[in-house]
Amino acid sequence: SKKVQPETEDLFEIMRQATQYYRSQLKQSETAIDYLKKRGLSGEIAARFGIGYAPGGWQNLTSVFQDYNAKPLVQCGLVIESEEGKRYDRFRDRIMFPIQNQRGMVIGFGGRVLGQGEPKYLNSPETPLFEKGLELYGLPQARKAIRDAGRVLVVEGYMDVVALAQHGVEYAVATLGTATTPMHVQKLLRQSDSVMFCFDGDDAGRRAAWRALENSLGLIVDGKDLSFLFLQQGEDPDSYIRQAGKDGFEKLLQQEALPLSAFLLRELVAKVDMQTQEGRAKLLELARPLQGQIRAPVFGLMLRKRLAELAGISQAELEEVFQVKS
Ligand code: UTP
Ligand code: MN
Ligand code: MN
Ligand code: MN
Ligand code: MN
Repeated sequence: SKKVQPETEDLFEIMRQATQYYRSQLKQSETAIDYLKKRGLSGEIAARFGIGYAPGGWQNLTSVFQDYNAKPLVQCGLVIESEEGKRYDRFRDRIMFPIQNQRGMVIGFGGRVLGQGEPKYLNSPETPLFEKGLELYGLPQARKAIRDAGRVLVVEGYMDVVALAQHGVEYAVATLGTATTPMHVQKLLRQSDSVMFCFDGDDAGRRAAWRALENSLGLIVDGKDLSFLFLQQGEDPDSYIRQAGKDGFEKLLQQEALPLSAFLLRELVAKVDMQTQEGRAKLLELARPLQGQIRAPVFGLMLRKRLAELAGISQAELEEVFQVKS
């Protein structure tokens, strides 16, 4: 593990103090509390995730940090320095979601506007503490539930994780808008033998699912399984569990989640005309580079077997074609 520099310790301490400050501001803001209540969140869940509120105004953090001009405040992304050297708070009038590392230390924030407004979520920049594409939001809170449930659920957003936990589905983590990276998948596979992805029921969510599949292929191990749950258009895990509850959501997971192999084949088959020889040949062309990434022997073998069936050739023939061409 990385050696923690004294400087890094300072940054952690700043993030801790900022989290505390945003927490205390939430308790004083009726508007912010109302917003969270309207979204169905209890004070208990807000506390569990350390949710806070950054009030409006440009230099509120001067009340927290004696030296507002200190460099570490900029380094950890809480304060922005303009070209003219003027300093101001990055997060203003936003609900604050602290992003914690595996040890539960705050490394960044996501801040949501209370109503409409752009961007909807403002995130911490990359800092010495916060590397995007690596962290999974909600992991420290979810860890025990992941063990107990024997699975980890991957969703897109802060609100999805928090709303799921509010309704008793505590084994969810989020990739935070960035695509699922191989580093994410590695981390996920260390948490559990069963990794389930459930992104938003929209084009972005479906693209995110495919990216997650692509970034998972090389990391699949026989004995572990990855699957994908697709929600109806316009739904996300937050909106879905609010209407269906824990039982409804878990029933959907149980009944509708597609194993990675089925998702892969469904997507490829949809791109070709299976009625023609040309279409079936194209299916194999599309599948070839994807199956070439798979290193799990049994999984790879079974996928090729299924591809051969779909293409109407023998498995020996398929192996020969793939060997020659890959
Ligand atoms: P969504 O737009 O689906 O957000 O983006 P959401 O979590 O459902 O938000 P609510 O329910 O309207 O509050 C999914 C995730 O993508 C990232 C955030 O991590 C968000 O949770 N995102 C989205 C950003 O970083 N910036 C944005 O402007 C929007
Ligand atoms: Mn979305
Ligand atoms: Mn969403
Ligand atoms: Mn949402
Ligand atoms: Mn409910």
